[in-house]
Amino acid sequence: MASAPKVMDIDLMDIWGKCNEMLVYQDEPYNAETPPGALAAQITSLDTFYSRNHAPIPRIDSASWRLRVEGLVDRPLELSMDDLHRFTERTVVATLQCAGNRRADLIEVREIPGQVPWGPGAISTARWSGVSLAEVLAKAGTQPEAAHITFTGADVSQQAAPPQPFGGSIPVAKATSSEVLLAWAMNDQALPAAHGAPLRVIVPGWIGARSVKWLQRISAQAEPTDNYFQAEYSVLPPEADPEAVGPGDGITLGPVAIHCAILRPARNDHLPPGPTEVSGFAFAGDDRTVARVDVSADHGSTWTPTDLDPPENPWTWQHWRAMVTLPPGEAELIARAWDSTAAVQAESPETVWNPRGYANNAAAHLHITCRP
Ligand code: MTE
Repeated sequence: MASAPKVMDIDLMDIWGKCNEMLVYQDEPYNAETPPGALAAQITSLDTFYSRNHAPIPRIDSASWRLRVEGLVDRPLELSMDDLHRFTERTVVATLQCAGNRRADLIEVREIPGQVPWGPGAISTARWSGVSLAEVLAKAGTQPEAAHITFTGADVSQQAAPPQPFGGSIPVAKATSSEVLLAWAMNDQALPAAHGAPLRVIVPGWIGARSVKWLQRISAQAEPTDNYFQAEYSVLPPEADPEAVGPGDGITLGPVAIHCAILRPARNDHLPPGPTEVSGFAFAGDDRTVARVDVSADHGSTWTPTDLDPPENPWTWQHWRAMVTLPPGEAELIARAWDSTAAVQAESPETVWNPRGYANNAAAHLHITCRP
C-alpha cells in the first residue's frame, strides 16, 4: 500500500472520470483523495469527488441490472431502473465522509499498517438524486421483526476474509428516514461508474462505508449484516490486535462525529506575521449541525470565533473563516468545532488513536512559519 499520495501523470479522466490533481493512494483498487483546493466548494465536482474502493470498479449494464429486495418483507421485489424511476424522484445534498478520513494524523502518533493513510480529503459533498429507500421498503412491506436493512454491492473484495461482495447495514429507523436515498444521479448527472452506477445507497450523516455502491440486493433482517465490512468499520480499543479480534469486537461505526479541517493557510505555508484569513470547513455528522468553530494561533491560550456558514441542511459540511493575527516565527494554528448537541472535538489525535485508524475527530492542527 502506498505510504504517500501521488499525483498521477496518466489521464485519470479517461479511466475513472477524475482530474489529475486527485491525490491517489492506490490505482487498483482505486483510492484517491479530493485535492485541498476542491474542498473549499460547497458542492464537490464529479472529477474531484474522493473515491474509496475495496475492489476493482465493476462496470454494470444498467439495462439488464436488477435490484432484489428481500428478507423480512411481505412482498419480495425485483426492480429494474425503469421500475425505480416510477417512484417519486428526490434530491438531497449530502456530505459523504470515509471513516478513515484524517488517518494520516493518527499514523503520526503510532503506525497503522495496511490501511490507506488518508489526509483530510476523504470527504466531499454532492447533490444526490434517486428514490427514497423508505418508499421502496414500504412497497416491499417490511415485517415488524425487521430491525436492520442490509445492502450488498456487486464488487467482490479480496481484502475481505473470506473474499465477498462489499456490504453493510443500518437500523430500520435510519433506513426509513426521508434523507436516505437509492441514488442514480450525482450533481444532476448520471451516477459515474466510480461512484456506484447504476444505483447506490446514500446514508447522509453516516460513515461512507454504509453508502453501498453498485447496489444489487437489499435485505430486511432481525440482526445487522455479518458482511466483513460491517465489522471492519469499527473502533477497537488502542491495545487490541486487529488481526486477533472477532467480528463483534469494537464499536461499530454509524453516525459521523463532529470534526473540522483548516484549508487556508496550507500546511507548511510561509506567511508574514500579522493578520491573515484562516478558513476551512466543519462537518457535524448524523442529523446535527455545526454550532461554532473557533481558531487559535497561540497553542490554545486564546481563541477567535469564526464566521460560520449556516447549514444547507443537517447533512452537509459548513465552511468558516476568521481573521487571525499570526505571531512571528513558528506558529501552530488550531481549529475546533462544536455541534448542535454541544459535543466538541477531541483535543489531539493521541486521545482518539485506534488500531484501524477510524473516526479521527481531533481538533485540526496546522504548522506554519511566519517570516516578514
Ligand atoms: N460500496 C461498495 N460496493 N464497495 C466499496 O468499496 N466503499 C465504501 C462506500 N461504498 C465501497 C462502497 C466506502 S468505505 C466509502 S467511504 C464510500 O463508498 C466512498 O464513496 P465514493 O467512492 O463514491 O466517494
